[in-house]
Amino acid sequence: MPNTSVRLLCSIAAAAALAAPRCARPTQTKLAAATADPAVASREAFDDVVQKTYGRYPVTIVRGSGCELEDDAGRTYLDFVAGISTCCLGHGDQRLVDAITKQIQEVHHVSNLYYIPNQGALAAWLVKNTAGLDKAFFCNSGGEANEAAIKLSLKHAVQERGLKDPVILTAYGSFHGRTMATISATAQPKYHGPEGCWQVKGLAEHFEFNDIASLEAAFEKHEVAAILVEPIQGEGGVRVGTQEFLQKARELCDASGALLVFDEVQCGVGRTGRLWGHEHVNVIPDVLTCAKALGGGVPIGAMLCADKANVFAPGDHATTYGGNPLACAAALAVARAVDDDGLVANAAARGAQLEAGLRAMGDKYAGKITEVRGRGLLLGLELSSELGGAAKFVQAAADRGLLLVPAGADVVRFVPPLVVKAEQVDAALGILEECLAEA
Ligand SMILES: Cc1ncc(COP(=O)(O)O)c(C=O)c1O
Repeated sequence: MPNTSVRLLCSIAAAAALAAPRCARPTQTKLAAATADPAVASREAFDDVVQKTYGRYPVTIVRGSGCELEDDAGRTYLDFVAGISTCCLGHGDQRLVDAITKQIQEVHHVSNLYYIPNQGALAAWLVKNTAGLDKAFFCNSGGEANEAAIKLSLKHAVQERGLKDPVILTAYGSFHGRTMATISATAQPKYHGPEGCWQVKGLAEHFEFNDIASLEAAFEKHEVAAILVEPIQGEGGVRVGTQEFLQKARELCDASGALLVFDEVQCGVGRTGRLWGHEHVNVIPDVLTCAKALGGGVPIGAMLCADKANVFAPGDHATTYGGNPLACAAALAVARAVDDDGLVANAAARGAQLEAGLRAMGDKYAGKITEVRGRGLLLGLELSSELGGAAKFVQAAADRGLLLVPAGADVVRFVPPLVVKAEQVDAALGILEECLAEA
């Protein structure tokens, strides 16, 4: 890798993308000959017409199969990113292909002006499998699901509890999305724009994650419509919410009538080895948001709520594509994999294997690794700051054919497809060991 590229890549500390490989190591047979149209594949042509909202690494992925991806030069990579915790069935999964092929041949989009059987079936599956929650609203992304949860919480606070100045309480280090409301909820200044110009003033207040005293102080100070929290912070560095902390959030909400909203956009749909991340702590929310893995990579998000929080009336909230037949067909294929094919059990087993391997490496390279944390297949390896940052490490892994993604400055995140195989976990650990030995 030339030095200029190294400098460029190291400067993109928060980039959620991967470096170009010098000698990516094929882990299976080559998937197929690369046939990308040069006009499409040219990165210069791309940059001429696409806004630079991402610090992209110079890699062009053209196809995938299972947990492998192939770039336009025919190099293959083990994918431990899964479109950032999204492609739970991996790439080219036949169940997903069949479901959306069949659906697009029948009818793919109609509008929520009409009844949509797939939407009803998906809602029924979600509420059946989610303790305490009764109704679903569908949208297209995690940010939209949280936007819906915020609107619902504010209406609930004003209409049902008579609050005059309701706020949403969220944790420092959280990530809830990029719409104006969800950026305001995201308590990380780096997302708030120059002079905080993207923050909606007065919408959100914050507390320290896993700090009960800080949560209680913030709760005392404000008229709280809802506590919105990730059971496991993803973008904020893979931080697991403790049972005591999430239980305290539940108690504060119970005592006041505020809503407890769990953002399971990243940790939900089986990733942690349970269907929902909060099942590990047995704290039941009033509202839950999910997206990412819900459609296996086909865009869909959902906001579930308990009957007591079900305050939306016709006209209050909507989105054209939300829960359309195509997206719901994809999500139902994921649901079937959960029900019939042991998707969540595999996440638990492979997660345990990966975590054990990471912990062994934590012991062996104690000076280079400061912590291993996470649950199931949402794992983070915190590197010593002397190693030069997660982005540099991610690049070294990509050079060897393993795709990883940073979660903050020094944390390397492991979020492979939930169908990942034992030998692929071993292969990833082997590459990781080489990177650690060299770092
Ligand atoms: C916990 C969490 N909430 C919300 C979002 C936003 O989701 P989306 O990018 O689909 O809008 C993300 C995205 O990474 C996330 O990790």
